Amino acid sequence: MFNLFWRLFDIVLLIWRVFVIVLKDLCQWLVPPKQETLHDAVILVTGGGKGIGRKLALYFAKYHPKHIILWGRTKTALSQTAKNVQDLNVNCSYMICDVTSREQIYSLAKEVEAKYGQVTMLINNAGVVHGNSILSSDPADIENTFRTNTLAHFWTVRAFLPGMINHNCGHIVTVGSLLGLTALNGAADYCSSKYALTGFTESLREELKSMNCTGITVTCVYPYHVDNDMFAGITTRFPSIFHPINEDYLVGKIADAVLTKREKIIVPKLMYLYALASSITPVSAISSIMKFTGVHKAMDQFRQHRKKQ
Ligand SMILES: NC(=O)c1ccc[n+]([C@@H]2O[C@H](COP(=O)([O-])OP(=O)(O)OC[C@H]3O[C@@H](n4cnc5c(N)ncnc54)[C@H](OP(=O)(O)O)[C@@H]3O)[C@@H](O)[C@H]2O)c1
Repeated sequence: MFNLFWRLFDIVLLIWRVFVIVLKDLCQWLVPPKQETLHDAVILVTGGGKGIGRKLALYFAKYHPKHIILWGRTKTALSQTAKNVQDLNVNCSYMICDVTSREQIYSLAKEVEAKYGQVTMLINNAGVVHGNSILSSDPADIENTFRTNTLAHFWTVRAFLPGMINHNCGHIVTVGSLLGLTALNGAADYCSSKYALTGFTESLREELKSMNCTGITVTCVYPYHVDNDMFAGITTRFPSIFHPINEDYLVGKIADAVLTKREKIIVPKLMYLYALASSITPVSAISSIMKFTGVHKAMDQFRQHRKKQ
């Protein structure tokens, strides 16, 4: 009888906790919480030379962190971004790092910590898309997708997380994709690599909670198609409704989520509905929606666009 009482008490307590968390989350949508300062931050951005990574580095530079480090493979892009960040009076360095190489990540991580101190914010952003079907993909492309989009996250986190745990302080940002929550015809390796990131990030968060590392935040971002080079060429049947989101808009949303320690965001908000629908409606219903909106053929245009280049 006594045991039953405690079990019921536990259940009521759990419902109350969940209710308070949901309420707090809803309030954050209405009244944004205080933003954290970045004065002591050492930020590392993978794929920081171009696209979203470059814009994130420039956006965070406005908060005057202690140092920003850019990783990528293309020297010209990295050095240009580093220069633009330095022009904002922020220390910025770049390193040529191919994130498909675990050895390179580990050795450069040691160099980073020796030169610039503990990385306090790791932004895992580097990514690739090849855009072919399961049967037509080159096996090397499939492996490259997983090495870049998924495995690199394991290696960078294994390199920098121990230092964050020692100080019980840090932020790990995963640039995932809406395609890590819903699939797209013609991009199986990309979607699978991003679905894996959903599992990775959620597991990482749980591991940290089980270690009581309350000072380390894990933020995962799920953007829809962005108006930059990566998915250039793809369109849908209703481009005025389902148009790509602006890169600067996305970067503002990511930075906002990071600075207010949100753990998960889908951009734009409309896509929360799509993610929800795809998890609760029958599979064939989602396929019909994809067919109706022309999304099922979107990657054909992407391939045509790449061929022309
Ligand atoms: N664009 C979209 O529509 C969209 C939508 C949802 C999510 N995302 C995600 O957002 C992230 C950034 O993409 P983006 O749109 O900015 O694309 P992007 O302009 O093509 O940039 C990709 C970045 O990743 C770097 N990179 C690729 N392979 C690498 C490797 N092996 N080692 C190190 N760096 C590597 C590239 O630098 P180097 O080539 O110099 O190495 C580049 O800086 C990706 O994770 C992507 O999946 C993009």
